Amino acid sequence: MKPLTQLGVFGNPIEHSLSPRIHSLFAQAQQEHVNYQRYLATSGRFSRSVAQFFCHGGRGANVTLPFKQDAARLVTQLTERAQLAGAVNTLISSKSGQLVGDNTDGEGLAIDLENKGFKVSGRSLTIFGAGGSARGILPLLLAQQPKHLYLINRTVEKAEALKSELKALGLAEANLVQVLSSASAIEEPVELLINATSSSLTGQCLTLPPILADDACGYDLMYAAKPTVFMHQLTQVGCKKVSDGLGMLVEQAASSYQLWMGGERPDTTSVMSELRKSS
Ligand code: ATR
Repeated sequence: MKPLTQLGVFGNPIEHSLSPRIHSLFAQAQQEHVNYQRYLATSGRFSRSVAQFFCHGGRGANVTLPFKQDAARLVTQLTERAQLAGAVNTLISSKSGQLVGDNTDGEGLAIDLENKGFKVSGRSLTIFGAGGSARGILPLLLAQQPKHLYLINRTVEKAEALKSELKALGLAEANLVQVLSSASAIEEPVELLINATSSSLTGQCLTLPPILADDACGYDLMYAAKPTVFMHQLTQVGCKKVSDGLGMLVEQAASSYQLWMGGERPDTTSVMSELRKSS
């Protein structure tokens, strides 16, 4: 039998996290011996809990809300994409004893968009939100050279600050970003809409752009058993291709798993259908 690998996820709340299930399915498929646990952290004890986990032999951990930015400050080394995102969702204990912080959220979204045929390159994008989730995905979306990226946030200063930060970090594509306080000001047909706000958690509607392209696609980073309010809104205005964020969740998990375990990227298709079946 292969040695047991200790993995886990830190967050608050954490009890509903699907990550233990996803990682167990990966481990089962790859015949690895993995123990992946949920850890409820508090803001005062987050760094101590993480340190304890790694002191007791933890190989790697995920970090979820609201600790992704804390995790970026905690590590001894940040990957370039985690530095650009200003947030860490994957902690890795390196052989040399360093605690490395990476961010697989953007990659997870990019792979899922590609799987679904939701094109980014050369297209007109609207991203709602300028918080932690938006930060995590913007660098990878911009790297795919959209035609235009409208960044919409009701607190427009936060979106301006995010754009300036990306520019200051040397991301040339930050010039493709146009900041607006409402999507109602967009004058061209939008081809891909991504909800990176927490509006779906509270069931609130967003103001959509006035014109959507005929083949527009919509993606909500949230996942839920039922379609989110954002997905409903888009369907009502005739958008035919809408998705929740389950695929992103599974793909970012696959990227983390591969970073910890080495070897092949886990197969995500079977895991996704398993999760849909039981939701
Ligand atoms: P996360 O890490 O999930 O991104 P966050 O950093 O708190 O969480 O950011 C939440 C984002 O959702 C913000 O962009 C927030 O807008 P403000 O910056 O104006 O607060 C956005 N948001 C939350 N509820 C919203 C709503 N009902 N309508 C529009 N935007 C909303």
